[in-house]
Amino acid sequence: MSGRYTFTIIKPDAVSKEHIGPILAMINEAGFHIEAMKLTHFSKHQAEVFYDVHAERPFYNDLVEFMTSGPVVVAILEKENAVIDYRELIGSTDPANAEVGTIRKKFASSVQNNAVHGSDSDENAHREMDFFFSKSERFNRDGDCCTIAY
Ligand code: CMP
Repeated sequence: MSGRYTFTIIKPDAVSKEHIGPILAMINEAGFHIEAMKLTHFSKHQAEVFYDVHAERPFYNDLVEFMTSGPVVVAILEKENAVIDYRELIGSTDPANAEVGTIRKKFASSVQNNAVHGSDSDENAHREMDFFFSKSERFNRDGDCCTIAY
């Protein structure tokens, strides 16, 4: 089991292809509540810090360039077992290995341009949520603000 929150990014490739709506529909249909959301554009510095765990990887510079190439949607998703269930919904990092019916199978075009990001642990979910959102930007299923209990 994982915790109740995960963090997602709809990446520049999916935003530029007008896939925001269909991806959000899949997220809602899978039972996730969108607790916070915005359209934004990573600065180079933000992308470097957000992905600093990959700083030594050969794809890091290309990843930063890609993630700063256009606007993205960032969102906090709430559901029981959120991290694990969301990773199942998005499918493998490389769309060639993603299961039929997953977001990446439908919308990703390569291992880099893979349409969406999903947190890989509760710890990283909290780090990523706090990177983009304050408490006052989060609304629970009842529409109430600022009521976060991890
Ligand atoms: P994401 O889930 O956001 O986490 C790190 C990102 O790096 C990943 O999705 C891809 O966009 C990218 N990535 C991971 N592995 C590779 C790879 N082998 N080559 C290029 N990009 C990669």
